[in-house]
This record gives sequence, C-alpha cells and structure tokens, in this order.
Amino acid sequence: MTDSDVARIGVLTVSDRASQGIYEDRGGPAIREYFANVLTSPWEDVSRIEPDVQSGLEAAIKEMVDEQGCCLVITTGGTGPAPRDVTPEATEAVCDKLMPGFGELMRTVSLRAVPTAILSRQTAGIRGGALIVNLPGQPKAIGECMDAVMPAIPYCIDLIGGPFITTDSSKIAVFRPKKK
Ligand code: MTE
Repeated sequence: MTDSDVARIGVLTVSDRASQGIYEDRGGPAIREYFANVLTSPWEDVSRIEPDVQSGLEAAIKEMVDEQGCCLVITTGGTGPAPRDVTPEATEAVCDKLMPGFGELMRTVSLRAVPTAILSRQTAGIRGGALIVNLPGQPKAIGECMDAVMPAIPYCIDLIGGPFITTDSSKIAVFRPKKK
C-alpha cells in the first residue's frame, strides 16, 4: 500500500463558540465516527476547528487540500442565514467548480426531518483533486446528510484522480456506473 492509497479526509468544524472552547465540538467527532463506521478502505483524518471567518476558512480548506493532500473535506456549521454564517462563501471562493447536486439532495433529505432545513445554504465543489462538502452544524444532521450523499462520493473522487474508496455495503452501498 502506498501513501496515495490512503484517503486523507479533512474535517473542518466551523463555529465561533467551539473554536473558543465555549462548548465542545460535537460535529467533528460525529463526522470521524461516521467514516470509521462505513469506510473499509484505508483513511486518516485531518481535523480543525475554526471560527466563522471567511478568510480563515478559505485558508483552512486550501491547507487541507493543497498541503495535507486531502481528497475530501467535510465542513460542519456556518451554512445558515446569520451574518457570521460564511462557510458556503468560503467554499465557493476556493473551488474550481461547484457541485450543486450535493446541497440540493441534502436539503431535500433534511426537509423530511426539519422545516428549517430550507435555511441551510450548504453546497459542495471541487478544488484540484478534492471534493469539499458542507454539512449543517447540527450534529443530528450529519448522519442524515452523509447517508444521502455518501453513495456518490467514491465515484466523484475516482473522477478527480483520488484514491479508490470502498464502504461496508451493509451500511452504505456505493454506486459506480459500469464502464462503457
Ligand atoms: N438539516 C438537518 N438535517 N437537521 C437540522 O437540524 N438545521 C437547519 C439546517 N439544516 C438542520 C438542517 C438549520 S436550523 C439551519 S439555520 C441550517 O441548517 C444551517 O445551520 P448551520 O448554520 O449550523 O450550518
């Protein structure tokens, strides 16, 4: 196994209060637990907690992708309408292309759980060889949103030249279209 077979996954918690230690980060651990539970291919996480500051978020995503070699970055928090919610703006600013289907699907699924899911502006995009995906800050949203988008993530990472990611199919069945 070479280093490039190991999927490095960035987990970026976006929260003024969690970054100051006012409350415990529950989003980051929930995302790591999610991957520990479903992935069967080798992976490691690169985790950070940042306040809701657009320039800092852009720098954190760039560092995770360009320097740490992450093929996937999951953010949690800062997607709502409040003045300090800037995670989607930071994501859009650092991505070469946007992947609007992720936000559309996650809002659709989340709306079955809470009517306020419409307040999430979560998006996704590609920066170089990495997929960046925004999740809402609510820890309960993590499983709901990840279950919705995870089936398509390994194929997306194949298409951008990343490691071959596999899952426990009894938990999440990955979909890869058959080669023509
Ligand atoms: N999605 C799910 N699945 N569950 C939730 O509780 N909360 C919503 C929404 N999406 C929620 C959800 C609310 S109340 C807001 S304001 C937005 O996500 C944005 O949350 P964030 O700013 O913490 O990212």
